Amino acid sequence: MEASTITYGLDQFIADCRAILARDGGPKGREEVRVLLERLLRNPDFIARYCGEDVPRGLKVLYEDPSLGFQILAHINDKARVSPPHDHGESWAIYGQATHYTDMTEWEREDDGADPAHAKLKPVKKYRLNPGHAGIYQDGKIHSIDYPDYARFIRVTGTNLDQIHRVRFDLKTGEVHRMTPQQAT
Ligand SMILES: [Fe+2]
Repeated sequence: MEASTITYGLDQFIADCRAILARDGGPKGREEVRVLLERLLRNPDFIARYCGEDVPRGLKVLYEDPSLGFQILAHINDKARVSPPHDHGESWAIYGQATHYTDMTEWEREDDGADPAHAKLKPVKKYRLNPGHAGIYQDGKIHSIDYPDYARFIRVTGTNLDQIHRVRFDLKTGEVHRMTPQQAT
């Protein structure tokens, strides 16, 4: 492993995110952030310190940018979870696996979107994020996550998602529900 990867820490990642997203807050800039998140996740010291066994459980905001608004979040899970399909509103999210894995499904709407309360979804992509891998979900994309006990991940989001309108989808009934803060991810 390159020395630069071993020592690539949170402070440098934050500085890089700031520089990249200030220059290009669009899909290309976010993709650069995704690649750097993978580099951060290959730093064993970062994983031990922010995602290790001694870290308090739950959701921790590691950083929120005062001007650009993006957040870096650590999801320190002990319990397995399957989320419903959901979007990230007008924002975006990057999921980087720290420990264990997350099975991702990306969905698309089959209906025309005319009825705001109902939707028909079809799965279009399924894959597993293993440690050191990060997936990106651009604005409007719908995905669901499924992870086992002790799976931990780092998310970078374009803004505080609790403050924007987001929806989740009930696959059985087709109902579209507004997401409440800290619900799903
Ligand atoms: Fe999500």
